[in-house]
Amino acid sequence: MSSVLDLARPELRRLRPYTAGAWEPECIRLNANESPWRLPADKSERGLNIYPPPRPFALRSALARHYGVDEEELLVTRGSSEAIDVLIRGFCRAGVDGILICPPTFDMYRLYAGIQGAEVLAAPLAERDGFELDVDRAVAAAGQHTKIVFLCSPNNPTGGSFPKASIDAVCDAFAGRALVVIDEAYYEFAGTDDHLRHLKGCEHVVLLRTLSKCVALAGARCGALLASPEVIEFLDGVLPPYTFPTPSIELVLAALAQDSLRVSGERIALIKRERERLATALFDLPGVVKVYPSDANFLLVRARDAEAIAESARQANILVRLFPSEPALANCVRITVGRPRDNDRLLRAVAGVESIDEP
Ligand SMILES: Cc1ncc(COP(=O)(O)O)c(C=O)c1O
Repeated sequence: MSSVLDLARPELRRLRPYTAGAWEPECIRLNANESPWRLPADKSERGLNIYPPPRPFALRSALARHYGVDEEELLVTRGSSEAIDVLIRGFCRAGVDGILICPPTFDMYRLYAGIQGAEVLAAPLAERDGFELDVDRAVAAAGQHTKIVFLCSPNNPTGGSFPKASIDAVCDAFAGRALVVIDEAYYEFAGTDDHLRHLKGCEHVVLLRTLSKCVALAGARCGALLASPEVIEFLDGVLPPYTFPTPSIELVLAALAQDSLRVSGERIALIKRERERLATALFDLPGVVKVYPSDANFLLVRARDAEAIAESARQANILVRLFPSEPALANCVRITVGRPRDNDRLLRAVAGVESIDEP
């Protein structure tokens, strides 16, 4: 019977897993060449003089509970960036296999594919009201050696979510042919459903989540890859051991406590309200052509002169993002939704940017 792992790099499936040294907290550790003393500045619970566990097991349990999946369906990664990397390394043979992306989208898919020597095919989003996923174009663009299709929903940098029916159609079309990775880095800011339902019964579907946006831990570098136990077990063997740092484990566990999640939930609600306020106010500015609908914590704005907007923001010590190497985003600027006072300051800064059509 065929398995989703038939898509994986065969040499990695044969790789002998690393055997970690024993970890028994009651024993004196003379087996790992560590220092026996903590630094005075070390306030961590576990102690930074000793290695973290080979995999952050406690964190995996907590994240699995948080996302409502089984532990066997979750791999903890250093940010979802590392999940993208490990997927491409695990499934694409250099110089042979490749990925399919739907640009304009998150640029790291292209970058990690390039690092691995994997081909990057593209099925551009169709620009109508927003940027839309064209299912037929995506299916037609894939090649014989396409191993991973990346869908980012809500999509960075365009902001919109793809309709459930389009995502379902892509998942159906690639069953048995390629992994479909749905990157849900921003789903907590969307009012739409997540795609967890795909995990049951669709072994080729993978979801990516991150703690970088919704719980304010971009600096702790924690992401989660959700997939079938088979895929997780395989990728677990590709990811090096001991890479998830102790301070990050402890911080993320604290972020998943009920009180902390309540604060994060209130902040997400505020960001969503500010997103709507900012979108309306930006749309009223003379230099703005369009504000794309957003389900994320940022807005994509098409302007008559995006550089002038970025420059005016810079004069007020505010950084926004331009996309000079993405032709579909010429004259677009991506603005992260900030605190109310930051958003006010941005609005004041760019209010004076006139339409370049005006005298
Ligand atoms: C769509 C998308 N996926 C993944 C990431 C990576 O996030 P991290 O590595 O911080 O989890 C980002 C970061 O901006 C993103 O926009």
